Amino acid sequence: MSGQRVRLGVLVSGSGSNLQALLDACAREDFPAEVACVVSNVSTAFALERARKAGVTAKVVDHKAHATKEGFEKALLDTLRAANVEWVCLAGFMRLLSADFLGHYAGRVLNIHPSLLPAFPGLHAQRQALERGVKVAGCTVHFVDAGTDTGPIIAQVAVPVLPDDDEKALSSRILAEEHRLYPLAVRLAVTGKVTLDAARTRVEARATVGELALRNPGATVDPA
Ligand code: GRF
Repeated sequence: MSGQRVRLGVLVSGSGSNLQALLDACAREDFPAEVACVVSNVSTAFALERARKAGVTAKVVDHKAHATKEGFEKALLDTLRAANVEWVCLAGFMRLLSADFLGHYAGRVLNIHPSLLPAFPGLHAQRQALERGVKVAGCTVHFVDAGTDTGPIIAQVAVPVLPDDDEKALSSRILAEEHRLYPLAVRLAVTGKVTLDAARTRVEARATVGELALRNPGATVDPA
């Protein structure tokens, strides 16, 4: 199926465990996408190692090497285009993208965030959740718009917040779900099972309730 696979560009800044989940999903014969290129704005990001190990093109486009945001985004766009990237996945990418940049990949940029949006956008979402005392936390995959974690929501997973949780414990419970959710959401999006209508999405998927977490759209694991 590799001939028809959608070419993903994954933008990263750090560890890249979500990138790894996407690389692992893409290694499966029947997954509808492949990672064509990984781009980091941080030259020391471990995500770059993961890409190289998977035999995927890994590039650094350092925002600090550009005097303006426009210059940075042009370099980013040139890099993605050189790899014939069709969809862009943000995976721990710590820069906000402008409406101008997003216009080049309209409706084809996804992000994963470690909260049940619209609660707790921005940095340290898990810490925000603990500080607010919520009893249910989770993660969200959404289309990216020019705001901070504000784009239309595609899929979410909820996990419990336990009484003794610290930021590390809650983050790792959420992260395990992120790794399942992102490939599932990418599959839904690139195969046209998510339609975008103003601020809302309609997702064609069966709804099920998993044992430990509520997932919507439902799937206990990525059905790929
Ligand atoms: C994840 O929690 C993701 O939701 C957030 O940044 C973190 C990135 O982790 N946007 P990793 O680099 O994928 O391990």
